[in-house]
Amino acid sequence: MVALRPDIPLLAPSILSADFAKLGDALAMLESAGAEVVHVDVMDGRFVPNITLGMPVVAAMRKYTKLPLDCHLMIVEPSRYALEFVEAGASWVSVHQEADPHIHRTLDSIRKAGAKAGVVLNPGTPVETLTDLFGDFDFVLLMSVNPGFGGQSFIPRILDKARRLDALRTEHQTPFLIQVDGGVSLMNASELVKAGADCLVAGNAVFKAPDPAGAIHELQLAMRTARKP
Ligand code: DX5
Ligand code: ZN
Repeated sequence: MVALRPDIPLLAPSILSADFAKLGDALAMLESAGAEVVHVDVMDGRFVPNITLGMPVVAAMRKYTKLPLDCHLMIVEPSRYALEFVEAGASWVSVHQEADPHIHRTLDSIRKAGAKAGVVLNPGTPVETLTDLFGDFDFVLLMSVNPGFGGQSFIPRILDKARRLDALRTEHQTPFLIQVDGGVSLMNASELVKAGADCLVAGNAVFKAPDPAGAIHELQLAMRTARKP
């Protein structure tokens, strides 16, 4: 039997909600608090309305942490830049299915460059569109908000979408991680893990909390408890 999920669910705090003038401090806090992954939101002002950061910032962060950097590319023509993010130090790179007509090739090139390749689906894109790519990616990122900004409200029907994707993964016996991003908090973390999510992204729930390290521990506890049979 193929292991379809990691042993413990992973928390990926999103540095979009951190103080951009103190990214080094944010990375040190995430590492000492025991976060498993650092989520990095790359926005170009075209695929989404907002603009954030690019390869030089990823390269700078790479020097300050050993944690995997998970670059979520919310950009048009992601195939033009995906490899540059791997070269800058990204260990995970995800590409929106809606942004790339040749996503099979892009995923293949990310994997060949040595990073984990992910497909991102906006709230309106069905998981059934992924089955012809099964085996060609390492993770799926389900957006639980419309991408572009931190601090938005969680869209509850993503729970059903995660369950459907988990069922497809089992039916096809294809190992990959299911990641969920947007409005994640203690209100939904447990339910998301029960629905099949393996990795939760959390921006405001971590960085806007009075005690960010404490918030990480609480989320991890909720996620790990939900995974127990
Ligand atoms: C939104 C980004 C998210 C964002 C999540 O477009 O992809 O990663 O940082 O932030 P919260 O957890 O505050 O919704
Ligand atoms: Zn993101």
